[in-house]
Parts: sequence; structure tokens; C-alpha cells
Amino acid sequence: MNSYKQDFRVENMRQISDSIRSRLRSEGRTYFIETYGCQMNVRDSESISGMLLDCGFTPANSKQEADLILFNTCCVRDHAEKRVFGNIGALKELKEQRPGLIIGVCGCMMQQTNVANKLMKRFPFVDLVFGTNVLHRLPELLEHVLNGNRVSLTNEDDISVIEGIPSHREPSASAFVNIMYGCNNFCSYCIVPFVRGRERSRSPEAIVDEVRALVEAGYSEVTLLGQNVNSYGNDNQSISFAELLGRVNMVDGLKRIRFMSSHPKDLTDDVVEAIAANEKVCPHVHLPVQSGSDRILKLMNRKYNREQYLKTAEKLKALRPDFELTTDIIVGFPGETEEDFADTLSLVKQVGFAAAFTFKYSRRQGTIAVSLPNQIDEATKKERLKRLNALQAEMTVLNNRKYLGYSGEVLIEGFDAKGDGVVYGKYPNFKMVYFDGEPDMIGRYADVTVTGCKKNSLIGELKNG
Ligand code: SAH
Ligand code: SF4
Ligand code: F3S
Repeated sequence: MNSYKQDFRVENMRQISDSIRSRLRSEGRTYFIETYGCQMNVRDSESISGMLLDCGFTPANSKQEADLILFNTCCVRDHAEKRVFGNIGALKELKEQRPGLIIGVCGCMMQQTNVANKLMKRFPFVDLVFGTNVLHRLPELLEHVLNGNRVSLTNEDDISVIEGIPSHREPSASAFVNIMYGCNNFCSYCIVPFVRGRERSRSPEAIVDEVRALVEAGYSEVTLLGQNVNSYGNDNQSISFAELLGRVNMVDGLKRIRFMSSHPKDLTDDVVEAIAANEKVCPHVHLPVQSGSDRILKLMNRKYNREQYLKTAEKLKALRPDFELTTDIIVGFPGETEEDFADTLSLVKQVGFAAAFTFKYSRRQGTIAVSLPNQIDEATKKERLKRLNALQAEMTVLNNRKYLGYSGEVLIEGFDAKGDGVVYGKYPNFKMVYFDGEPDMIGRYADVTVTGCKKNSLIGELKNG
């Protein structure tokens, strides 16, 4: 009955062998990656793609056609986890029809050994499991799988910065660039520090070299990525995040610099000054507030209070009239009273975010908050989320109205398939605008004037066009 392969522990082996590489090339095997979660995972999937291409795989158009299907998972909330399990389960039939199909699962969820073990048990047709720390070892892991083994490698302590992993980005004008990995903050609700390890920063030289290479390849916008970019360099580098912005700003041919996420406790005046001083740095900061209540912020271990947050927000907004802030907010954190929630609503009103990503608190095993008293029931969370979203929707409309008549340069990102000749793109401050255009304009810049606004978006037209 159990025709599935035996589990196999991986020793120290680095590269896929030439014989396997040429075998894969001649067989024309294809891969498909399904990515969940945040930009970190998107960026990791680009590295996975790069390694798979290097091994001799080519991209498949769909999951159904692929010879290798890889799920790059997220575990930040319960919902993300359930979806992954559901989608893996759904592949059982496909695997029975095509026993040669390789199914792999990686990413944050798999960095938790207990979850990885559960998954290996529950889905015997999964061939390969690996955590975030060993991403770079994919070629050797694959070799073991291709040799008929079932492989699981999670939670290794190998958390150095690995440079030189091949990478495959989709053609675009905009690219993600990691500046650091991991997180040291241990916000009491958050699983990320457990699945991404401690903070480690890439060297400024490696970052600037990557940005330069991207510009040479035709990219003009970079988003510098880290769980808390403001603590860049605190571990082992000679320069700070503010200084790094200055270095990246000097790359010739680069037009725009974005970064995310910023932790409010570390967004110091030198960063505000660097945003102002470096003309390529966009006038937008994603500044997750999580809650407007001092009591809850303390329980969340966020290390700033409402007043400090508001002060930082003010400093940023004072840089220019079109400076925009976006945020993340959690409702229903353990112990959140109606009064605490009212503080969140009032902060949202006071700051006037361009957009807010709002979440119901989700209990994550292993975090401090999971065992805090006074967990909030689902109905209350749902109801608070609804009220918060309704308020933010009003704020978004108000924010959009400010832009009637506004002009600026837009990087065109896409073509609205439903919109009949409509393209969309972003101003430097992250505001999205829709206007008439053709698909071949994607990746280019255009001057656009705002002529109207809808509930969630701005409508514009090409200047002089
Ligand atoms: N490092 C980034 C964000 C990481 S996770 C930062 O600190 O800004 C992205 C967002 O998910 C967080 O900002 C938070 O709002 C939300 N989040 C994290 N853990 C959560 C949990 N247990 N329940 C609900 N939302 C959560
Ligand atoms: Fe999670 Fe806090 Fe780290 Fe962000 S800063 S990843 S919310 S622990
Ligand atoms: Fe990102 Fe989810 Fe991991 S939010 S860091 S992919 S747990």
C-alpha cells in the first residue's frame, strides 16, 4: 500500500551534479511555484526560480502541466496556513495520475519543524520539504529527490547571509532587493522572528552591486526589503539604513527607491532626513502602527506609544504635502477593550493613511500573545474589523479627493484587462492612478494629471497627451 519513498536526511552537499543537470535539460522538465505571504516570500521565489533554471528546469504555464510544483508558504495568520494545507491536499489525484510529479513545500510554515513533520505525515505524496534557512540548498535537496528519496530539511541553524544565489525576476521596471533578513523584535503576536531567524544585514557593497546590475538589466525602481529596514546594519555592517539610502541613491540610472517595512520605534530623524535629502527616495513610508491604544501597544511589545508614533508620522508628512503613509493594523488583540479599539479608530482618523492593511488577531503557537488572558471572540473581531475597514474606506475617499488636479510622474505597472484600454501605475507617493493607454506602455514613465476619483482609486489622463 505505501509505495511512497523513504525519508532521507541531507548531508553536506552543495550543488546539483552535472549528470542530473543535463538529464533535466534533455528531459525538458518544468516547474511551477505557488507563492503565499509577503514580499520576502516573493523575493525568495525569485531565488528558487533562479536555482531551478540553473538546474535545468524551465517554467510551466500552470500547475497542471508542471513536473515540479513548489508551494512557498506563509504562516503569519491561521488563514494562510489553512489555504496551503487545502491546496496541497488537492494535488493527491494529480500525483496518482502522474507519479513522476515532484511536489515540494517550503517557506515560513516549513521552518517550524512540528508543522513540517505533520505535513510529511499527512501528505505522503509530498516529496520535498525545506525551511527558509536552507533555501540555498535546494539544488542538492532536489538531487536527492530525483534519486528517489523523500527529503525534509527544516529548522537548521544555518542563518548566515548567502550571496550569489541565482535569481529569476519577471520582466518589470520594479524589483525587490533584500537588504536584511530576519527579525529581532518579537512583537508578542508575531511568528516571523521564529521562522525567519535573527536579523542579519547584507553588506552595502552587495546591495549596491545588485541595484546596479538591476539598472543595467532595465529596472528603474527598487524596493529595499527587510522585516524592519530601519534596523539595517545594527548587527554587523558599518553603515546605517539612512546611509544606505544615500549609497543606493547614487546608482546612476535608478529612478525610484522604496523600502519596507519600517518599525516606528526605529524610524529615527536621520532616516527622515535621508528621505528628504535623497531625491530618488519616494515620499511614502509603510509604517505599521498595529494599534492606537498605548495599553495594547505595550502588550504587543511594540516599544513605542501612540504619541511617539504620531510624532514620527507628523515629521514624515511635514516633508511635503503629498507625502503618504500606509499602515498595518490588528484588531482583537487579547484584552482589547472597546475603549482600546476606539483609540485605534481615532488614530486612523488623525493620521489619514492612504491605505491600511487590516487583520483580525490570529493566535500563533509559540508566541507570547497566544497565552495572554482575555482572548477576543471571533464575532467581536469580525465586527471591529468591519468598523475599522468602513472608517478607512471613508479616509481613502477623503485622501483621494486631495488629488483632484494633481500632476506627477507615474510608473506604468499594468493593463487593466476589464478596463478597455486602461493602464495603471503609481506616483512616487504610492498613489495608484488609472488612465487610457496601451499595454506596451507598461514599465515606462508618464506624466499624468488626476481628473477624477473613485472609491479606491484615482482616474487621470496623460499630460499633453
Ligand atoms: N515586519 C513587518 C510585518 C510583518 S507581518 C512589520 O513589522 O511591519 C505583516 C503584518 O501582519 C504585521 O504588520 C501585522 O499587522 C500582521 N500580523 C502579524 N502577526 C499577526 C497575527 N498573529 N495576527 C494578525 N495579524 C498579524
Ligand atoms: Fe513581526 Fe514585529 Fe518583526 Fe514585524 S517587527 S516581523 S510584526 S516581530
Ligand atoms: Fe512573510 Fe508570511 Fe513569512 S508574512 S515572513 S511569508 S510568515
